Formats: sequence, structure tokens, C-alpha cells
Amino acid sequence: MTENPRKKILIAPSILSADFSRLGDEIREVEEAGADWIHVDVMDGHFVPNLTIGPVVVQGLRKATKIPLDVHLMIEEPWKYFSAFKEAGADWITVHYEACSKNLSDALRKIRETGLRCGISIRPKTDPEVLEPFWDETDLILVMTVEPGFGGQAFMPEAIGKVPWIRKKYKGLISVDGGINEKTAHEAIRAGTDILVAGTAVFGKPDRKRAIEALLAR
Ligand code: DX5
Ligand code: ZN
Repeated sequence: MTENPRKKILIAPSILSADFSRLGDEIREVEEAGADWIHVDVMDGHFVPNLTIGPVVVQGLRKATKIPLDVHLMIEEPWKYFSAFKEAGADWITVHYEACSKNLSDALRKIRETGLRCGISIRPKTDPEVLEPFWDETDLILVMTVEPGFGGQAFMPEAIGKVPWIRKKYKGLISVDGGINEKTAHEAIRAGTDILVAGTAVFGKPDRKRAIEALLAR
């Protein structure tokens, strides 16, 4: 395993599990509790069966926090919305390999030209070898450990096996998303991830500071 015990692991709480009736307070609370980034799950009802939020909510989040907003686009034709998310205050945009496999290079270049950092996400069943042509074109790889679409699903252990392989080949940031909790976080860290995305395991707990500390406990 490739774990570096001195490496800082970033925590990115996913707002999908937050209380949307008091989103600003939720964000301020997790920021105070030690969150490094805020993860924003955007779904279009086509690429995934669920519908969530768009740039207008990112605009609201931007007013509540200064930490990076990490926008995960689970949508088809994501390039239509890069500028809107940039104007709303996003810092990172991650697109799905499966949503733009034919023009992924163009999509990544457009994100960078917009002035944002870019990421590629792969579904649990996607072979990580598809990433080979893109190592230099992306700032982040996001490995899904659940089928994208919903929060609160069970971690798929077979998907985490891709992380050590990616870690060997790729020098940028690796993020793991889906079913991360006290137990699986440790597995993801041992596999070599830099960032833990966690919805239920942070927003589902009353004490967010303790929840974040529990994810980082070794
Ligand atoms: C799933 C999303 C995840 C999800 C994580 O499609 O990309 O970010 O909200 O939620 P938990 O941590 O509850 O699995
Ligand atoms: Zn996500």
C-alpha cells in the first residue's frame, strides 16, 4: 500500500446530505469543524436517475464560505454549464468520463480555460485504464465507490482497488466518493487517496467536528 502517514487528507463534505432549509448554517458549521472543501453534487435526471441542484445554489454557497467549492457534475453535456458554475463561484469542476468519453480532452481544456481546476470521475465499474491518456490534462481523479445518483449508499469495496493503480501512475489529486464512513475512510486512505468526500458520515452526525475527526482517525 502507498499510504504516506504524514500526508494531509482533505475532507470534502457533500451537501447532498445537508439540511437544505438551513444550508448556509450547515456549511459554516462543517467549515468550523475542519472541512477543507465543500463537495457539490449536480445531477440532471439523465446521466443519473436523480435531480439535484444547479449554479444558483453554488452562488448561495459561495456567500456562506471561502473554502473551495468542488462541483461534481453527474450530467450529460457538462460543458454547457462550465461558465455558469464559474460565475456562481465554483473552484473545481469534475466531469464524468462516461458522460464525455469522446470529447473529454476538450471538456478538461475548457474547464481550465474558464479559470477553474478540472477533474475526471469514473463510475465503480469503469476500468481505470481509460484514464491513461489524460494524466497531464486533469488536476484530479475522482473514484466513485457507489453508483452515482444518491447519498447514503453502501461502499463498494471492489472499486477502491483502482486507487493504488491510479496512485502509481498519476501525480495529481485523487478523491474517493461514496459510502465513506469511519471504517471505509481508513481503507481509502490506505489505498492512497488525498481527498475523502463524505455526505452522510458528516451531515448525518450531530457533532460535525467529531464526525470529521473520526474519518481521519488511523
Ligand atoms: C453520489 C455522490 C456522492 C454522495 C456521497 O452520487 O456523488 O457525493 O453524496 O454521499 P455518501 O457519503 O452519503 O455516500
Ligand atoms: Zn459526489
